[in-house]
This record gives sequence, structure tokens and C-alpha cells, in this order.
Amino acid sequence: MTTSADSPHTALVDTFGRVADDLRISVTDRCNLRCMYCMPADGLPWLPRGDILSFEEIARVAGLLVGLGVRTIRLTGGEPLVRRDLPRLVEMLAGLDPRPDLSITTNGVLLGGLARPLADAGLDRVNVSLDSLRQDRYEAITRRDDLERTLEGMEAARAAGLTPVKVNVVVMRGVNDDELVDFAGFAETEDYSVRFIEYMPLDADGRWTESDVVSAEEILDTLERTGISLQNVADTNPEPATRFRISRHETDDTRGEIGVIPSVTAPFCDRCNRIRLTAEGGFRTCLFALDEADLREPLRSGAGDGDLEKMIRRAVRGKWAGHRIGQPDFERPGKSMSQIGG
Ligand code: GTP
Ligand code: 5AD
Ligand code: SF4
Repeated sequence: MTTSADSPHTALVDTFGRVADDLRISVTDRCNLRCMYCMPADGLPWLPRGDILSFEEIARVAGLLVGLGVRTIRLTGGEPLVRRDLPRLVEMLAGLDPRPDLSITTNGVLLGGLARPLADAGLDRVNVSLDSLRQDRYEAITRRDDLERTLEGMEAARAAGLTPVKVNVVVMRGVNDDELVDFAGFAETEDYSVRFIEYMPLDADGRWTESDVVSAEEILDTLERTGISLQNVADTNPEPATRFRISRHETDDTRGEIGVIPSVTAPFCDRCNRIRLTAEGGFRTCLFALDEADLREPLRSGAGDGDLEKMIRRAVRGKWAGHRIGQPDFERPGKSMSQIGG
């Protein structure tokens, strides 16, 4: 863990000594899919357009935060690529000083047309959500028929240099947990980095139960039982994934990578360096936070940078130790994943 001792005096440090240097910005609550672990079939009431931060407002907050030590910025949603003119925002963020590392987490459906303009605007890489390699099942999970477009979008991202392309698979018991081996094969043949994610209680339908979660440990056991051997990749970054190179017993060759993100059974909260800005300008210090600081109102009523910085520092100081999923006192946030930003 980075501590306040080795951070610049401007850094955003919480009371547990964690330094917030990774910002996740949701650019919209809208989405072109309806994934069962996130949205209801009929969607959610979208925020009125006027409630969504403009690119100028987003860039102002991001610029302030870069000045306070933020080094990486990820754009999320909803589905970030449905926000009109997104490359323009990327260009604005790439112009910040110091220039942050810029990435996007997307469902990939619109990447085919946008990968190149986003890369040209300064985007560094993308993570793509893909929960099944089978067309009928992809459709059952996302309630849309877009598997082909997503796969093409991933190729377009690679061709545009938005690498490494990471693939996010939310593993749900009885839904897609029989595809682990297929996904490992996909990682090998296509050379993508596939990450299996534990299912978290952030679905809008409120159907999540602990028994739906396939633990990271169970995922790794299942893979190793099928003749795949996994070599741990040493990693010092405070990222949530534990990564492995894949090799087959019959050859020495390794190709492709898988990872697990044990957000439920072994969360990385004690190393968490994240802060979030929601599409409507809420500043959150945890995915599961029960409250957020509204930055939109001060942004629109002429607050100076110093005022905003004070609000941000106060919020960071209030960051809790971590989520309490599985504990008797766990309380779900009032918003679901697409409303918070993934
Ligand atoms: P990189 O590995 O650096 O590319 O980023 P990442 O894995 O953090 O990003 P991504 O947006 O692809 O998220 C992967 C998974 O981690 C998703 O299921 C997210 O919902 C989950 N995740 C993201 N942020 C948090 C967080 O703050 N807490 C927890 N528990 N899970 C998170
Ligand atoms: N549990 C775990 N991951 C989720 N995501 C969306 N909803 C959930 C959930 N309930 C993932 C998406 C995307 C990332 C932003 O978060 O698949 O890759
Ligand atoms: Fe859309 Fe992402 Fe939610 Fe799926 S997980 S419905 S792609 S916001």
C-alpha cells in the first residue's frame, strides 16, 4: 500500500492511509444493453439530460483531481460509448497536466466504429464486458442480440492499439459458470486478458443472493482440474485482479492470461485507491458507499477550485474501511451498478 509518507503533500489520503489516485468517471447512466446483473429488462428511468455533467464540468473536476495526485482515469457508465461525442471528452482529459492514464470500461457493442476515434483522441486502453461466448446465452444475459458486434468491437480495439484489451466476465452460478474453460480457451487463442469477476449485490432487480456467487477460489479450482496450469503474475499495482498466465501440461508454451476479481470473498478494500464521479456529479469514495457529495450544485453556482477541493478532501477523509457484503450489517447502496458507474 502507498502511504502518506511517500505521497506528495497534496495527495488525497484517507484516515486508513490509502491514497486516492484512481478516478472513475461515469459519463452516462444510459445503456444499450440490459444485463441481468445490472439493469431490469425495461431499463431504469434515465436522468434528465440537464442533470448530467457537461464535458467541461467533468474536465474541470478531473483537472482539479489530477492536481491532487490522481494518475489514472477510467470512463464508465451506464455504457460510456452511448454518450455523444465521447472522443471530445477523451481529448480534453488527455490534455490535462500531468496527463493521466486513460481507459474505458465498455460493453463493446459500439467499439467497432469508435475504437479508432477514441485512440486518436488519446485513449490508452479498454476493458470489455462479455459474459458468454454463446449467442443464445449472451442474448439471455444482456437481453440483446449483440455478441458478434461485441467481438468485432474487441478486434477493432486491438487494431486501434487500445491494448491490453481486458475482458470482464461476471460469473453467476447456474447462468454462465459452465463456460469457464471456454473462456480460458478464448484467452489462449485470441490472446485477450480474461478476468472472472465475482457477482456483486448491485443488480437493479435486487435478485442477488450469496449462493449465486461463484468464488474466485472455485473458479481457479475448476480451471486447474481441466488440465490448465496457471502461473501467478507478480503485480505491484493496486488493481483488483489476481492474474495468471495460462499453460497446458502438454507444452511449455504460455499464451493468454486469465485473472480473478474476488470483490465479494476477498475484496481489495484495504488497498483501494479509487474515487468516483457519477454522471450527475456525485463524488463517491466507494462503489458501495451509502452517500455521496454533490459537486454539481457547487459547480453550477460558481464555486471556486478551493471550495471544491475542500468538499473532495472532506469526502475522502470520510472513506470507510470497505464494504460489508456478507456481514449482518451490510446495506445495499440505493443505486445499482449502471447508476453508480462500474
Ligand atoms: P484495470 O484492471 O486496471 O483495467 O481495471 P479494473 O479491473 O478496476 O476495471 P473494470 O472497470 O474492468 O472493473 C472490473 C471489475 O471490478 C468490475 O466488476 C467492477 O465492477 C469491479 N470494480 C471496479 N471498481 C471496484 C471497486 O471500487 N470495488 C470493488 N469491490 N469492485 C470494483
Ligand atoms: N457484479 C459484478 N460486476 C458487475 N458489473 C456490472 N454489474 C456487476 C455486478 N452486479 C461489471 C460489468 C463491467 C464492470 C463495469 O462491472 O460487467 O465489466
Ligand atoms: Fe449496461 Fe454495463 Fe449494466 Fe450491462 S453492466 S447493463 S453493459 S451498464
